[in-house]
Amino acid sequence: MNTPAHLINRRDFTKTTLLAGAALASGGVGVPAANAPTKRIRTGVIGCGSVSHSYLPVLTKSPFVEVVSLCDIRPERAQKQGAKFNVARTYPHLDAMLAGEPFDFLVDLTDMQAHEKINRRGLEAGKHVWSEKPIANSLAAGQKLLALALKKNLRLWGAPITVQSPQFAFMAKQLAAGKLGRVAAAHADYGHEGPNWSAFFYEKGGGSMPDLAVYNFTTLTGLLGPAKSVSAMVSIVTPERTVGDKGRIKVTEEDNAMVLLDHGSGVISHTQSGFNYFNPHGHDGRQETRHTINVVGSHGFMGLVGYDWAPLGVDLATKDAPKLERHATDAQGYLWQQGAALAAECLATGRELMVTPGQALHVLEIITAARESSATGRRIKLASTFQWPLV
Ligand SMILES: NC(=O)c1ccc[n+]([C@@H]2O[C@H](COP(=O)([O-])OP(=O)(O)OC[C@H]3O[C@@H](n4cnc5c(N)ncnc54)[C@H](O)[C@@H]3O)[C@@H](O)[C@H]2O)c1
Repeated sequence: MNTPAHLINRRDFTKTTLLAGAALASGGVGVPAANAPTKRIRTGVIGCGSVSHSYLPVLTKSPFVEVVSLCDIRPERAQKQGAKFNVARTYPHLDAMLAGEPFDFLVDLTDMQAHEKINRRGLEAGKHVWSEKPIANSLAAGQKLLALALKKNLRLWGAPITVQSPQFAFMAKQLAAGKLGRVAAAHADYGHEGPNWSAFFYEKGGGSMPDLAVYNFTTLTGLLGPAKSVSAMVSIVTPERTVGDKGRIKVTEEDNAMVLLDHGSGVISHTQSGFNYFNPHGHDGRQETRHTINVVGSHGFMGLVGYDWAPLGVDLATKDAPKLERHATDAQGYLWQQGAALAAECLATGRELMVTPGQALHVLEIITAARESSATGRRIKLASTFQWPLV
């Protein structure tokens, strides 16, 4: 998990420093010197459902985090996780959490539709915020959140963190070195049969794009650059579903999406994603061994082995070495669920992440533009961009 050794290994994937003085004085690699006390960021986690089972083990093991409170509108969930992870304070509402045990960093793991409001409340209360995807429900709302964060000298980050993996770094470096020649096209593919525990995934503001395609959009824009425009078709394949929290529900947001992105200079990518995909591996990243991201150019081909959120390696073939060869098979400590722990590390040591709110907002605009393109039959120009290249 998030051990100091892993943190050292991730050194290649960090760039600049934020809080210049803080940890750099003690070596600058984010790992405290043998006898230097580690700065732990007092952290509150809101949303104690499914994904909290993946986040809390990482957060509670991180040397940069002290989880001081948990919150869920289903209080028994917060209490159960509190007992399991030894967190004394649990709250049934954000207001009570903000008024209770003091903390500096809010980790938002609630329903997709709740993020925008909770993230705003967190920033208004002076907390740094890590949000599960999406940060907000529209580009405009997300930009306001980011402006608020900047104004208050706070940090705001959003999942996913696919650009933090060593496999992403390997692919980005091949592209930057021109190994693929003139890059032409990319394809991404991620789907499963859909979550069966909560209705919000299928209701307005949910959908398969912010849940699944969001990983691919982050990887593809990270590799190929911000998109200029979007053409898409989205649909609802299964109009009714049975889910754990509400029983039989109507599906009102897309569960099937085909999205074309124009990255400029002639480079086009395609993402296909949805909640109606037979997938024997589902949520188990270690079992998926197909290429789920392909990039091709005039001199070479690259295929990412496995999911971009849990990659297993990169297969590369070029004109000079045309036999497909596997590279970057070491995860080097990367875990898809470590984003909030990395953000806390950044707050404690100044080590920056590859993940930026600018890219998260660009990906959010891609999602809303894809819906608009599908509804109108038009190609939609994008207004947002982000600092690129990342590597
Ligand atoms: N489950 C996963 O494996 C997984 C993986 C990656 C990302 N995510 C993302 O994590 C987020 C949560 O997903 P999940 O699967 O854990 O859902 P979930 O339904 O299991 O959990 C969400 C929790 O948030 C709580 N909640 C909702 N509104 C709240 C509010 N206003 N205040 C306090 N608590 C509130 C709910 O009661 C619930 O316990 C989503 O954005 C999802 O896309 C989930």
